[in-house]
Amino acid sequence: MTNIPNIKLNNDVLIPQFGLGVYKMQEKSEFMDAINWAFEAGYRHIDTAAYYGNEEWLGQAIKESGLAREELFITSKVWNADHGYEETKSAFEKTMKKLDLDYLDLYLIHWPSDNYVETWKAMEEFYKEGRIKSIGVSNFQIHHLQDLMSKTDVVPAVDQVETHPYFQQDELREFLLKNNIAHEAWGPLGHGKNDLFTDPILTKISESHNKTVAQVILRWHIQRNTIVFPKSVHKERLAQNIDIFDFELSDEEMTEIKKLETGKRFAANPDDKEFLAESAKKKID
Ligand SMILES: NC(=O)c1ccc[n+]([C@@H]2O[C@H](COP(=O)([O-])OP(=O)(O)OC[C@H]3O[C@@H](n4cnc5c(N)ncnc54)[C@H](OP(=O)(O)O)[C@@H]3O)[C@@H](O)[C@H]2O)c1
Repeated sequence: MTNIPNIKLNNDVLIPQFGLGVYKMQEKSEFMDAINWAFEAGYRHIDTAAYYGNEEWLGQAIKESGLAREELFITSKVWNADHGYEETKSAFEKTMKKLDLDYLDLYLIHWPSDNYVETWKAMEEFYKEGRIKSIGVSNFQIHHLQDLMSKTDVVPAVDQVETHPYFQQDELREFLLKNNIAHEAWGPLGHGKNDLFTDPILTKISESHNKTVAQVILRWHIQRNTIVFPKSVHKERLAQNIDIFDFELSDEEMTEIKKLETGKRFAANPDDKEFLAESAKKKID
C-alpha cells in the first residue's frame, strides 16, 4: 500500500499529506463507492464540511470500513451561517452526531464571513477539551489571519485555500511558513477544468515521467509541502491520484511550473463581502 507522508502541524499532530476531498459528492451510492475505493487504495484522510451535506454518509462509511479510528484523519468545517459562539457550539455537535465520532481530527472555519472570532473561541474550547485534535481556517487571507491571531489564543494549525499551478498563493504561503501554519490546497487540480489538464508545459512534463497531468500537478503540491485531497468519484482516478509517490519532479520542472502562475482564482474571492454575506444566509440542516 502507498506510503503517504505525514506533515507535523504546529501542535505536533501528524496529518497525512494526501487525502480525499468529498465536495460535490451528492449521491449516496456514488459517495459510498468512492469512499470504499479510496479506503481500498490506501486513502486515510478525508476532507468534508457541514456544507457538503455528506457527513452522515461518511460516518456510515467509516463504520462499515472496519478501519480503526486512529488510522483515519477526518476534517470538517463550520459553515458561514453558523458563525458566532453559541451557533458554532451547536453546529459542531450536529457535525459530530452526523459523523458519529468521539473526536474530530481537524475542524475549520470554512470562510472568513462575519463573526469568525467568536466562532474560533468556541472551537478553542472543544480543542482544549480534546474533542477536536487541531483547529484551523479556510479561505483566510493574510489580514484575516492577523486579525484572528491578535484576538485569540490558539494559532490556526492550517489554512485551506484555493491553490493550483495557475493560482499558487506565493505571498500567503510565505506568511503561513513564517507563522508555522500548514498550507492545505483546495481545488488542487483546478476542479479538473479550466485548461489545466491540457496545459502544454504540464503535458510535456507528464509525458517525460510517463504520468498523467493530474499526477504531475499533485506531485508538484506534494513537493511544495502542501496538503492535498483531490476529489474523484471514479475508481481508476482515485487510484491514479494516489500513485504519485514513485517519481519526483526536478528543480527545473518545479521552476517551469512556477512560471504558470496567472494571478487569477477559479472560484470565490475571500475578500468578496457580498459573496460572504449571501453565503451566510444559506442555512444547512
Ligand atoms: N475550503 C473550501 O472552500 C473548499 C472549496 C472547494 C473544495 N474544497 C475541498 O477540496 C477538495 C478538492 O477540490 P475540488 O473537489 O473542488 O477540485 P479538484 O480536486 O481540484 O478537482 C476535482 C475534479 O477533477 C476531476 N478529477 C479528479 N481526478 C482526476 C484525474 N486524475 N483526471 C481527470 N479528472 C480528475 C474530478 O472528476 P470526477 O469526480 O468525475 O473524477 C472533479 O471534477 C474538495 O473535494 C473539498 O474537500 C474546499
